[in-house]
Amino acid sequence: MKKVFVAPSILSADFKNLEKEISSLKEEGASYLHFDVMDGHFVNNISFGPYVLKCIKNVTSLIIDVHLMISDPKKYYLEFIKNGANIITFHYEAMKKEEILPLIELIHKEGAKVGLSIKPNTAPKEIEDFLPYLDLVLVMSVEPGFGGQEFMTNSLNKIEFFDKIRTEDSYHFLIEVDGGINDITSRKCIEKGADILVSGSYIFKAESRMKAISLLKGE
Ligand code: DX5
Ligand code: ZN
Repeated sequence: MKKVFVAPSILSADFKNLEKEISSLKEEGASYLHFDVMDGHFVNNISFGPYVLKCIKNVTSLIIDVHLMISDPKKYYLEFIKNGANIITFHYEAMKKEEILPLIELIHKEGAKVGLSIKPNTAPKEIEDFLPYLDLVLVMSVEPGFGGQEFMTNSLNKIEFFDKIRTEDSYHFLIEVDGGINDITSRKCIEKGADILVSGSYIFKAESRMKAISLLKGE
């Protein structure tokens, strides 16, 4: 069976106990730590930035997956790499088309992996030209900005679209899905070809995170 990875989103963690929330996630079966950055402009919410990332980096060895929901990723990507990001994912909708490839190259030059994300109303075809250069494609299955929303089923066709192109053209990118992921929606995403499942409220509200993470993987 195909290997599936889980990326807990700390947006739903208990911030007064952040170290405790994060330090056991690896033993509980997670592979990535999903770090949602919001600027109050690209989305209607403000979260956290590079300083919080720096603190977190000291208490986990998980791969740090930074999801930039910000209007100007070009201005800030380096701050996140310097403070421990392993993957920088930015939004297609935040960029002029001609700026995307240069930014992918800049991030790669700093030694980080690059993801490109699309919001629920963006057609997957719009990012087709960038697929050969990407390490990750992030399909948003909710409108970005808040945790705890309901999964939007139109994301399933998008996952299928990317998986098909990836096979046909032998691309190497991973497919990540983010928003409303639980034990039921995760199965549908895995069936369509998703590799990484981001999950916030389902994991952090669970009585047993180990069980929640293993259910997400379909184990
Ligand atoms: C939403 C964020 C998500 C969010 C997911 O804008 O990108 O990563 O934390 O939360 P859940 O799993 O609760 O939908
Ligand atoms: Zn996210």
